[in-house]
Amino acid sequence: MTESGTVLITGPTRNLGRHAVLAMAGRPEGQRPDLLLVGRAGRDLTAVAGEAHALGARVREIGCDLSSLADVRAAAATVRGLLADGAVRPLRALVANAGTMSADTQHASADGYELTFAVNYLAHAELIAGLLGSFTAPARVVLIGSNTYHANFWRKLLHVPAAEWADPVELARPGSGGPGVAYSNAKLAILYYAHELQRRAGAGVNVSVFEPGWMPGTALGRGAPAAFQAVGRALGRLPGVSTPQRSGPLLAAMALDDQWADLRDGAFVLKTKLTEVQPIAHDRDRERRLWEATAELLERAGASR
Ligand SMILES: NC(=O)c1ccc[n+]([C@@H]2O[C@H](COP(=O)([O-])OP(=O)(O)OC[C@H]3O[C@@H](n4cnc5c(N)ncnc54)[C@H](OP(=O)(O)O)[C@@H]3O)[C@@H](O)[C@H]2O)c1
Repeated sequence: MTESGTVLITGPTRNLGRHAVLAMAGRPEGQRPDLLLVGRAGRDLTAVAGEAHALGARVREIGCDLSSLADVRAAAATVRGLLADGAVRPLRALVANAGTMSADTQHASADGYELTFAVNYLAHAELIAGLLGSFTAPARVVLIGSNTYHANFWRKLLHVPAAEWADPVELARPGSGGPGVAYSNAKLAILYYAHELQRRAGAGVNVSVFEPGWMPGTALGRGAPAAFQAVGRALGRLPGVSTPQRSGPLLAAMALDDQWADLRDGAFVLKTKLTEVQPIAHDRDRERRLWEATAELLERAGASR
């Protein structure tokens, strides 16, 4: 169990994030972190905060729409304020769980960026940049990956195309590629980002990536192509397929457990198994360029510090 402190999680309102929150809140006294729940303000956020509180956790709701970088910047400022005031214990982990797969790549964020890339990747890059100086070592950043970034059996069955990498400024432009490609590209970006972030984060912050396994029927497919949703519903009944109820506690373990305390360099864990990523997911030039392009994109949106 990590030093007692605070865990911030995005996307706490449903499925994987919600079950990770409940697993953390349900830890015994002395192992239970304070929780900062970063999600769209409203009934769902209040409901999960209430459930976590009922389990004994000290919880703060931080309303934030991740499709707006101004909102993300404000959320980071709120967290810095809470930490500075001693209103919550030291920040020991950030779990960048929120994700979306928009119906088409014409959808743009408030800042004019392709929505899937903006929410899954750019918003988390902004949030982490805003909080990198606020962690207390030893600390962990846990990013959420997906094996859709490369060709594999399940991805093909779900009709989700593999990543087709391009310059990140291009990936952020609405209309570039189909929705499945945008999702896979955002998840490949998260792997590149994880490697570069570790090089820049300093010794006290360990960066890892968690893959929850395919969890059919979550809200992720809300805007996804019909074929994805139909195959998901059919295959979701197979025994052994992942569920938020099973993978949520595994994500909580990534943030809290001694087992994963030394995981760093963007190490990739598929449910409980440390796994080597495909060679395409290690590329120093792309990783450096992604870092620079991300700074440009955040700055262009007025979100730079
Ligand atoms: N499902 C799978 O099979 C699978 C497989 C591999 C990886 N993953 C990854 O696992 C993570 C969780 O997925 P899930 O299946 O649990 O998805 P989900 O049921 O759709 O939940 C997504 C979460 O992200 C939040 N979110 C989405 N857009 C947001 C925005 N603009 N601002 C703030 N919050 C936003 C949602 O909040 P609202 O309640 O406000 O919508 C929700 O809490 C994602 O990163 C996903 O890519 C999922």
